[in-house]
Amino acid sequence: MIANLRIDVCAYPQTDYDVLGRTVILIDVLRASTTIISALSQGIRSVIPVATLGAARRLKRDNPGYLLAGERNGNPPDDFDFGNSPLAFKKQDIDHKELILTTTNGTHILQKVINAAHIYVGAFINLDAVIIRAAEQGLPISLICAGNNGEFSAEDALCAAAMLLGLNTKYDALQLTDQAQWMLYALRGITNAYSELQDQSIESFMKQTEHGHHLSQLGYTMDISFASRINHSTVVPDFVKGKLIK
Ligand code: MLT
Repeated sequence: MIANLRIDVCAYPQTDYDVLGRTVILIDVLRASTTIISALSQGIRSVIPVATLGAARRLKRDNPGYLLAGERNGNPPDDFDFGNSPLAFKKQDIDHKELILTTTNGTHILQKVINAAHIYVGAFINLDAVIIRAAEQGLPISLICAGNNGEFSAEDALCAAAMLLGLNTKYDALQLTDQAQWMLYALRGITNAYSELQDQSIESFMKQTEHGHHLSQLGYTMDISFASRINHSTVVPDFVKGKLIK
């Protein structure tokens, strides 16, 4: 029986994180988290997150069989195999391959939490699966929002709040920090009950965020719709020895 879980939330991106001995759920709903979950769901063997374009290109040069994916300012660099769209991966093209991924926010923040006891990648599309996996570790949990270009992002905060609601529904006597309490309270504007979370309300919320607007302008509206599909996947990306695996 899991009880007395301690949970904190970092809603704002930070320069460093105190995550030693903790389980981290890294949240970058639009789009790195959603894309990583989607790629692993479609059959990619592992996702290798790297912080910079240069490091990504070097890794590809040394491993020509690896696929290269990522974005800067939302779009794929010309020489990459894929951008950062969760809808880009088709099983026949990627099955059992390794994917190098570099994004502006998500893979960058991941490098800052590598001291955590466990790092899982979470989004709306694996909401239930990721909170259950994190809770099972029995360690304090940090919900880390990647944000957008070093700033707060509403869609990541909303997802963290949904995770808090889920944990609060499934487990007894959570110990929440003030920020976590506050986020749980703020979510009541959208829903009171975990079971009542709706894809449509998440989607319309995300389309109104700064990053949602930006992605819509670039033509990635379908990515936002996909990212809103609550519990579409049971895959929980787990960061082990530099790679995210199922
Ligand atoms: C990121 O990790 O920086 C984001 O996923 C950016 C994007 O929308 O592709």
